[in-house]
Amino acid sequence: MDGRNWLVTDQGVCQELNAVEDEKILTAPYRLYQFLADLDRILDRFDDNAERLKRLCPRVRRLMDDSPWLQLQYTFPDPQKGWSVSMLYDEPGYPITVQMVAWEAGRVSTIHNHAAWGLVMLLDGEEKNTFWQRSPESEFPDRIEKASEQIFSSGDIICFLPDAIHSVEAMGDSPTISFNLYGITTYDRRFVFDPQARTAKTF
Ligand SMILES: [Fe+2]
Repeated sequence: MDGRNWLVTDQGVCQELNAVEDEKILTAPYRLYQFLADLDRILDRFDDNAERLKRLCPRVRRLMDDSPWLQLQYTFPDPQKGWSVSMLYDEPGYPITVQMVAWEAGRVSTIHNHAAWGLVMLLDGEEKNTFWQRSPESEFPDRIEKASEQIFSSGDIICFLPDAIHSVEAMGDSPTISFNLYGITTYDRRFVFDPQARTAKTF
C-alpha cells in the first residue's frame, strides 16, 4: 500500500520521515512473528526513537502488504465509545502494544499524548489529526495551544515521539481502520489535556 511517512515531534511539528532500510526483508510472505523479531532487534540496536521509527515504517508497510489477514483483524467501533481496539499480539510481560483500531465516522478523540513512541498506519478512511504544543503559563503549566493540523488517508504512516500531543477526528462516512504500534508507556507522563481549563490529567 503506497503512502507517505510522517513524524510528529514533541513540539507538535509534523514533518515527512524518510524511511531507512538497513537490511532487505528476504522472506516472503513477511509474517507477524518475523516483524516482531525485527522490531525487537531495531529497538535493541537504536535508542533514538526517530531512528527506530524510520526503520519500522518500511517493515510495517511490508507486513500490511504481505498479511492481508491482519487488515481484517478489527472489530466495528463500539457505538457508545465510538471506537474499538483489537490486540494483534498479547503476551504477558510483552510491553509493546500491537493493535488494530477502528473509529466511527465523525468521532473526535480526546487531546492526548502517548508517553511512548508510536506508529499508526491508516488502512481505510481519512483522519484529521490536530497537533498541539505546550505553552505553559506560571499558573497553568499544562496549557497547550494548537500547532497544526493535517488530513491523512489510507497508506499514510504517522509516527509520534513520546511527548507529541494530538487529537484525531474520523472523517468520511465509514469507520477508519488503522494498525497501531506503541512502545513502552510511561503512565505517569501520559496525559489528556483540556485546552479551555488549561489543565492536564493522567489516564
Ligand atoms: Fe493517539
